[in-house]
Amino acid sequence: MNGVDLIKTRRSVRRYTDEVVSRELMTEIIDLAKNAPSWKNTQTVRYNVIYDAELIARIKDEALLDFEGNIKTLAQCQCLVVLSQVNKRCGYERDGSFTTSKGDRWEMFDAGIAAQTFCLSAWEKGVGSVILGIFDDAKVADIIGLAEGQTVAALIPVGFPKFTPDAVPRKSTEELISFK
Ligand SMILES: Cc1cc2nc3c(=O)[nH]c(=O)nc-3n(C[C@H](O)[C@H](O)[C@H](O)COP(=O)(O)O)c2cc1C
Repeated sequence: MNGVDLIKTRRSVRRYTDEVVSRELMTEIIDLAKNAPSWKNTQTVRYNVIYDAELIARIKDEALLDFEGNIKTLAQCQCLVVLSQVNKRCGYERDGSFTTSKGDRWEMFDAGIAAQTFCLSAWEKGVGSVILGIFDDAKVADIIGLAEGQTVAALIPVGFPKFTPDAVPRKSTEELISFK
């Protein structure tokens, strides 16, 4: 797929077929996604790929802040990426001070770039995904036993699309752009 088609056809996919996305395919997707840029090339984002149905069910039941939409999505997903980041590297000097006035916000900036790069990489291989931002990150970390010194940035359920959702409207380009 060319770049324009990839960007234009990608959708947030929240309903999946029963076919499981294999470890091999997930590895291929992440092998592509790791080409995402990062602050000072710190590459602090990690992809925790969860196939364990009990862990996914616990996240669904305990960590989604009662948000019905996300509960429904996790109820039928068989593969969940917990996107995490290594703390205190991205945006920091070696002595632990912040490099810029944005403080530690570059961590989430990089996680966002990594998340979209992952979703585009998956889409290119026929795999659907959606970035979820409504959850309790400490609870998710506890449930999956996240490595020490990392924080959960986003949840990304993954699966083969049951159907391709319609495009969601976007603002006009005129509203978004300004030239000086
Ligand atoms: C940071 C972020 C958080 C999001 N959180 C959720 C979420 O919690 N639940 C959900 O169903 N979709 C979530 N989405 C998906 C958006 O709703 C979706 O991207 C938007 O409606 C546009 O649709 P599209 O991705 O199909 O173009 C999130 C997207 C982003 C970028």
